Amino acid sequence: KELAVGIDIGGTHTVFGLVDQSGNCLVQDKIYTKEFDTFSDFLITLSDQIKKLQLPNKESFKLSGIGVGAPNANYMNGTIENASNLIWEGVLPLGNLLQRNFNLPVKITNDANASAMAEMLYGGAKGMKNFIVLTLGTGLGSGIVVDSKVVYGHSGFAGELGHIIARPEGRQCGCGRYGCLETYVSATGIKRTVSKLLAKYSFKSDLRGIPFNRMSAKKLADAAYRGDEIAIESFEYTGKILGIALANVVAINNPQAIFLAGGLSKAGDLILKPTQHHMEENLLSVYKGKTILSISKVKGNSGILGSAAMIWNLI
Ligand code: BGC
Ligand code: NA
Ligand code: ZN
Repeated sequence: KELAVGIDIGGTHTVFGLVDQSGNCLVQDKIYTKEFDTFSDFLITLSDQIKKLQLPNKESFKLSGIGVGAPNANYMNGTIENASNLIWEGVLPLGNLLQRNFNLPVKITNDANASAMAEMLYGGAKGMKNFIVLTLGTGLGSGIVVDSKVVYGHSGFAGELGHIIARPEGRQCGCGRYGCLETYVSATGIKRTVSKLLAKYSFKSDLRGIPFNRMSAKKLADAAYRGDEIAIESFEYTGKILGIALANVVAINNPQAIFLAGGLSKAGDLILKPTQHHMEENLLSVYKGKTILSISKVKGNSGILGSAAMIWNLI
């Protein structure tokens, strides 16, 4: 059996697994990204854990390579550069280090690019040539596909939609600038919105007792379904900022569809409906009613599946 390792490095968790050529993740595990003070400590533990992965029935297999999706990653030179949601600074030679640890083919791409590849192979973008996937997690990532190819741009960093300026002089971003889209539209962004709303209004809200680092997109969604006004308002505000940004993005790329993936997208209609409404309202008339907005249809971790697919050259 030939398998590939797929790794999805995130600001909070890093998940990894063994994937077959049909896109089934046969076993997966995770480590806490933030637990490691240095990138080299992180990579030592990650490599050890990967080497320990076994198939459920202890069946033997051959590893064909390692695919990685990571924030601020560069496909062209296998590095992670100045990642604002990772604690390690500077240029991290991820590809070279993995290559040295495993002596196998290694491919690195942006985490959201990996999700876009998974959407195309196994999700809602099957058969689509032009589409965009947004991942709404610790940050906001995007994978832009044009004519069936992920767009890398001149130096490998195309598609950093998390850092387009959504609000001039807005919230401070981990990248050091102000008003970036991900400071509003991400799991972290919506939590920041909730904190502001809680300070501004005296509405009774179950969310008052929850400290910032214990709040989650899931808890917010549950509260919104219970009718919590602050939670409902936070989804509406997030969807408004995202919808307007997407109307701008559509004018650049004219995609057939835009998919929302990642933790915050699990809120479903709570995030989809306001985003849809504000996107439609702001679209140029040639695009109105013609751009599909959907929650990702990939089952399982799209970062793992998409990065493993690079090893089989499926894209
Ligand atoms: C980074 C992207 C990444 C996204 C999601 C952003 O802050 O700039 O490269 O895809 O977070 O992890
Ligand atoms: Na990208
Ligand atoms: Zn930023």
